[in-house]
Amino acid sequence: METNHTAAEAAITDQVIERLANTPDPRLKTLMQALVRHLHAYVREVEPTEEEWFAAIQFLTDTGKMCDGMVRQEFILLSDTLGVSMLVDAINHRQATGATDTTVFGPFYIAGMPERECGENMAETPGRPALVHGHVRSPDGTPVAGAVLDIWQTADNGMYSGQDTAQPAGNLRGRYRTDADGYYAIRTIVPVSYPIPTDGPVGRMLNATDRHPWRPAHLHFMIDAPAHRKLVTHLFNQGDPYLDSDAVFGVKPSLQVAYEERPAGHALASRFGFDGPFQEARYDFVLAPR
Ligand SMILES: [Fe+2]
Repeated sequence: METNHTAAEAAITDQVIERLANTPDPRLKTLMQALVRHLHAYVREVEPTEEEWFAAIQFLTDTGKMCDGMVRQEFILLSDTLGVSMLVDAINHRQATGATDTTVFGPFYIAGMPERECGENMAETPGRPALVHGHVRSPDGTPVAGAVLDIWQTADNGMYSGQDTAQPAGNLRGRYRTDADGYYAIRTIVPVSYPIPTDGPVGRMLNATDRHPWRPAHLHFMIDAPAHRKLVTHLFNQGDPYLDSDAVFGVKPSLQVAYEERPAGHALASRFGFDGPFQEARYDFVLAPR
């Protein structure tokens, strides 16, 4: 009897795969048939009760309902916290191009944020004043002029504008452009560690699996330049306590940067308008040619 059951179960999988055989788009056919194969294998492995299967459907339903336009994207959060986002990232960046390492995009980007001058302060809320600057270059060292650096980070309360309606929309966000030497400069505040939102299904999953929701402090970058591949990455604060346990598995050693204390009156202070001590971080990005 055992064998008959197994045969009947296997037949369901075969039937579904067969039903997908006429999919006109070959890539879609591959994606759908593999999805069915792996999904059925998972079900076969864990043998869910009907209550468990319904709970899984309810979990995904709740995840969709939690999504809210630009402000909340619970499915990205789920992909990030299950390590799928970083796996997709790794697969798509296997070849060494000499470019800066990539990491997760995350759910908090907002398009169309203010264009800012070199060195302009993007912080409208308090924090430890900081200057983040450096160059954008090609792998051969050629400066990349006119690269657009789209930046986003949380306020000192650990929340992004958009998430936190008390913040001005453009707070700690903006688009900077490199000059003819490929130089960029961002005046901001030192990023802080923050917990990803835990008031939805992803938070329930983290809690049920005894995981913390914290991300090490970081600044998000999306860098775009003509004739180069777009770069999506972060700069993490060196020494952050969560570097080894990022809730979304995004940390890479090459993406850590030190913020160093500079005294009032430092050579860079007057150029960038700091009237007291500030923290300086330097980082050079490399973009792969397209
Ligand atoms: Fe972030």
